[in-house]
Amino acid sequence: TDLRGRRAVVTGGASGIGYGIAQALIEAGAAVMIADVEPAALDTAAAALGIPARHVDVRERGSVDELAAAAAAALGGVDIVCNNAGIGPAGRIEHLSISDWQWMLDVNLWGVIHGVQAFLPLLKSNPDGGHIVNTASMSGLAAAPSLGAYAVSKFGVVALTEALSAEEPRIGTTVLCPGPVRSRIGASSRNRPAAPDGGALVDLDLDTAGIFGPDGPPWLEPIAVGRIVVDAIVNRRLYAITHPQLAGRVKARHAAIEAAFAEAAERKEHA
Ligand code: NAI
Repeated sequence: TDLRGRRAVVTGGASGIGYGIAQALIEAGAAVMIADVEPAALDTAAAALGIPARHVDVRERGSVDELAAAAAAALGGVDIVCNNAGIGPAGRIEHLSISDWQWMLDVNLWGVIHGVQAFLPLLKSNPDGGHIVNTASMSGLAAAPSLGAYAVSKFGVVALTEALSAEEPRIGTTVLCPGPVRSRIGASSRNRPAAPDGGALVDLDLDTAGIFGPDGPPWLEPIAVGRIVVDAIVNRRLYAITHPQLAGRVKARHAAIEAAFAEAAERKEHA
């Protein structure tokens, strides 16, 4: 796991998984810049890691373009981009407002789209390509109740990364699909813009919520997830999985889809 001389940018790097990815990249020898929408947390994180930082709002394409230019200038180019900034509030689909959907998709899906658009030309200009890591979730592989909007955003990130992987063989592509990780995701609303139409998205209570609760799989520390990401970059893995314990959720979904195909095949025979 050696990324010496590699230049990396991590969004959402002020906290949680992004901070852990930055730590692991530094550990592997990379030069790292973190970016985040929360100025105070960003300053603290950059000081603790001793690396450059840049304010970004991933909802805005212009802001992500500025980040790409600033990172290329500060690091002398960019080899690795981790589109990781994200939010994870919950709410039943029936109750969600338009601003709920917009906030969720603006940060979690458009944020990643903007990152890919802004950084892909930089990565492709490298003689040996580069690597894009997009943070999705287990919710990008199987949808669960109350996490519908979140799952829509994360399925999008999985699809985007799979298609990009097929289109850009010279670029490494990884979609990170974590289970429960100790972070500030349970306080996501701290970064929510004003919602004039109200809404039903609420922060998860991590002590009781579904897979996060006491009966769920073990929580990982962000640095452990960061090391999984470094391993995925070095070994050019498309899927970075953190919780083998959660395989059943994905297998059940795949089995249901395969069963539907089997039924369709039988229908044809009897036609
Ligand atoms: P976190 O809240 O600790 O970190 C997220 C960071 O993103 C924060 O520093 C926040 O300020 C930043 N951010 C939020 N909106 C932004 C915006 N518009 N522009 C730029 N930065 C913004 O939460 P965590 O858990 O570290 O989240 C990181 C990613 O991991 C997210 O995409 C999340 O959906 C994903 N994830 C987290 C899991 C967990 O258990 N913690 C599980 C699966 C996925």
